[in-house]
This record gives sequence, C-alpha cells and structure tokens, in this order.
Amino acid sequence: MARITAGVASSHVPAIGVAVDLGKTEDEYWAPLFRGYEFTKQWIVEEKPDVVLLVYNDHASAFGLDMIPTFAIGCGENFKPADEGWGARPVPEVQGCPDLAWHIMQSVIQDDFDLTVVNEMDVDHGLTVPLSLMFGQPEEWPCKVIPLAVNVVVYPPPSGQRCYNLGKALRRAVDSFDEDFNVQIWGTGGMSHQLQGPRAGLINKKWDKEFFDRLVNEPDELAAMPHIDYLREAGSEGVELVMWLVMRGALNRDVKELHRFYHVPASNTAVGHLILENNL
Ligand code: DHB
Ligand code: FE
Repeated sequence: MARITAGVASSHVPAIGVAVDLGKTEDEYWAPLFRGYEFTKQWIVEEKPDVVLLVYNDHASAFGLDMIPTFAIGCGENFKPADEGWGARPVPEVQGCPDLAWHIMQSVIQDDFDLTVVNEMDVDHGLTVPLSLMFGQPEEWPCKVIPLAVNVVVYPPPSGQRCYNLGKALRRAVDSFDEDFNVQIWGTGGMSHQLQGPRAGLINKKWDKEFFDRLVNEPDELAAMPHIDYLREAGSEGVELVMWLVMRGALNRDVKELHRFYHVPASNTAVGHLILENNL
C-alpha cells in the first residue's frame, strides 16, 4: 500500500534558486537561510521517499491568462524546468509518476474535486526551488514528483477550507493505491510577502509564527480563515499559504513536528519551512 509518511512546507522564493545555481549558498546573505535546510537534507536522505506530491503554484509560466486551472495535476512522464525569462534553471528534469498520478486524479475527481489533467507542462521556481532546497544539486532528482498546481495568482484562488479538504481527498487517494510507495506531500509558497504596490516588502513575523502554530495544532480552525485575513496580515502573495493547508489536510490530525525554520529576508519574502511526520 502507498502511504503518506510526512508533510513538508517550504517557501519557494526564485532568488534562492539563483543563489544555488550561481554557487552563492555560502555568501553572507544566503548562508543563514541554507543552514535552516541542513537538517532536512540529512533527514530526507534517510527517509528516501519514492514519490513527492508537490503542491505549488505556477507563476504565469505554464499557465497564463489564456488558461487558469484552479487545481491541476501533472500526469506526464516528465516535466522540464520552465524558462521564466532568463533561461531555464540548470536543474534536472522532473520525473513524474503517471500510474499514481492517474490513480489520484480518478480518486479525487470521484471525491468531488475536479482536477485538471496536464500531461505536458514546464515547471517553474514554485516547484524547482523547494527541490533544490531539499536535495541540493544532484544529477537527477532522487525521487519521482507529481506536480499539483494550485491557482493563487488570479482571483479568486480556492479557499483555505477547500485546499484543506483537497488534502484529505489526496490522502484517501494515496491510501487506496496498491503499490508500496513511500509518499511525501509538500506544500510550498509563503510566508508573508507582498511583491507589489505601496505595501511591497510587507513582512509580519508575529502572524507567520501563529500560522505555523495553528497549522500544526489547530488545522481545522485555521482552514476556516478567509482570504482577506491572508491579504491583510500576510500581504498579497502571502495567500500562497493556502497551499500549506493542502499538505496539512493530507496528514493525520496529530502529527509530530520534526523541524521548523523561519528566516527574514530572502528577497522580499519571509521564508518558512516545516517538517511534519505523519504517525502511521
Ligand atoms: C518572490 C517570492 C515569491 O513567492 C515569488 O513567487 C516570486 C518572488 C520574492 O520574494 O522575490
Ligand atoms: Fe510565489
């Protein structure tokens, strides 16, 4: 049987990818950030996930105003890193897991979530930066990845509650897959940040800390928080945090917090990172 053994949350700031690609991870500005992922890099080598269900948002790379799926699942064999305007990142292609992805699609749609099936798409920093943070710079990514894209760019994004419920449906889907896979679910994006307008650069440490605590300890209550609270308190791009609720919904009510890291700033963003073990 396939099992979700852990959930990981991580910001996906594009400049982190640039720091990795240009060999700047030891620079004074970046070193404290990468130190926060050292525990994770060792932990994940021991965990050896077969598949990561990677919840992220596309930033007008694969999708745009011509096509805006609320939830899209990558069912293809592989996914290339996207050219986001300065050439594709020099990272490996992502190997998908079509058998499990198609099973999840079928199960989740029958569970009332209408996922869009995508067989071909390029994946941008939303997906590749968390992979770099977790795995460094290998020749090939050490596991398969199923991209699950959530629209948080064009209004309205799905509510926190809907994301949390999608996580629960994903859990049921993985639990009903026959092969013996060790599956992790990652929720990316966040924490507080605003990239535009008069409030650009907004960071709210107190609110971010509370979000961590509530995600771990009272996810049912946190899921009910409306978008306006994310916008007001965590900035316009802080709404990416609804994707952490997809991850949390796929885990047990009680989880073990293995690692928490918070760092300001990385580019314009408060970086948050969390590992939750799913006690089976
Ligand atoms: C930044 C953060 C993001 O989440 C993103 O998608 C783009 C830019 C930033 O802080 O620069
Ligand atoms: Fe983003």
